[in-house]
Amino acid sequence: MTFDKIYQYNFPTTIRFGAGSSKELGDYLIKNGLSRPLISTDRVVSQLDFFKEIVNDLKRKNISIEVFDDIHKNPVKSDVYKGTDVYDNTTRDSIIGIGGGAAIDVARSIVLRVNHREDLFKYDDLIGGDIFVTNDVPHFITLPTTAGTGSEVGRSAIIADDITHQKKILFSPKLLAKIIFADPMLTMELPAFVTAATGMDALTHTMEAYIARMPHPMCEGIALEGMSLIHDSLVQAVNKPDLESRSKMLIASLMGAVAFQKGLGVVHSLAHPLSALLDTHHGLANAVNIPYGMEFNIKGFEHKFKKMARTLELKEETGEAVVKYLFDLNSKVNIPHKLSAIGVKPEHIATLSNLAFADFAHPNNPKPVTRDDFYALYSKAL
Ligand SMILES: NC(=O)c1ccc[n+]([C@@H]2O[C@H](COP(=O)([O-])OP(=O)(O)OC[C@H]3O[C@@H](n4cnc5c(N)ncnc54)[C@H](O)[C@@H]3O)[C@@H](O)[C@H]2O)c1
Ligand SMILES: [Fe+2]
Repeated sequence: MTFDKIYQYNFPTTIRFGAGSSKELGDYLIKNGLSRPLISTDRVVSQLDFFKEIVNDLKRKNISIEVFDDIHKNPVKSDVYKGTDVYDNTTRDSIIGIGGGAAIDVARSIVLRVNHREDLFKYDDLIGGDIFVTNDVPHFITLPTTAGTGSEVGRSAIIADDITHQKKILFSPKLLAKIIFADPMLTMELPAFVTAATGMDALTHTMEAYIARMPHPMCEGIALEGMSLIHDSLVQAVNKPDLESRSKMLIASLMGAVAFQKGLGVVHSLAHPLSALLDTHHGLANAVNIPYGMEFNIKGFEHKFKKMARTLELKEETGEAVVKYLFDLNSKVNIPHKLSAIGVKPEHIATLSNLAFADFAHPNNPKPVTRDDFYALYSKAL
């Protein structure tokens, strides 16, 4: 690691972590003079018992609630516009994102749009749009219900174009939640498949962040501990969930997201085009690609893989052992080893490779990735 210039390190906001922490939401709103929140979620979560309990508890405290849940699986710009209309038409004073990464990303994008009415993608971080995020934003609170993206502690939202499905990043430090109520009880009923896919996303964050290019020892420490917690708990959380495994996965997913301010890499760039082109769930796309992406990164970074192997308690402290661990872990949580099993066809590979090469994640990969590398990686994983 070489420190060749001045770097900026940011750490997130207040996190209330633990079973039952979601019950503090009502008192928090009252203490902060907020009485008309918009709750942004998705149509699955809005039907779950814990969600109804949260809403009923807030209503009992005389808090006026409006729920917006009309969003796509991979959220698009028009979802954000619809949610902002609900915010405006019902005169809200704050926004609460309750759900997985999709729901929380929409909530965060509504937070942005309330006082920033240019075309949403004018604020796209990749074209420097963050400089236009200059106005105040509503009070923003998040409650994660999956243990994967860690979007609840992030400052960015991933929203796709309605027509091209290309994912854009909206980013600003202003989009950080003021407080996160991370309650593992909200994740207890997550189905096995979602637990596996989101959990592998969290693992991908810790691994990619750990080896990403930027010198950032603070994030590397967090990434390794997150990796260790996932190693301890993912299989249990998928196959025989209990509060301990759910708690470890939830804190590990938060840690993964804190760590990836350091950057992500080739695996996320392999995964994003699958969601764009085939609507594949983000976590599943990472899960299938991670063994291949990590294998690509071993050469030249053996020292990093040695530390990851040690963290994962592998007998052989090598990159190859880490790759084998990832395939075995996918088997244990019922995730396929091949892209063909999740709907990828040989004729998709050229387009996927172009999209992956244009993706924002891989410039932070420890080694450069060319379009031909993406083509070879997809072909190998097919
Ligand atoms: N902002 C970021 O930093 C960031 C990082 C990575 C990914 N993302 C985005 O996050 C999204 C993926 O998020 P995700 O992996 O959390 O999946 P998700 O939000 O799509 O949720 C997965 C499924 O689980 C359901 N679900 C959520 N909580 C549940 C619960 N407690 N019980 C039962 N079902 C539940 C949802 O309704 C959905 O059907 C993608 O849009 C991706 O682009 C954002
Ligand atoms: Fe991710």
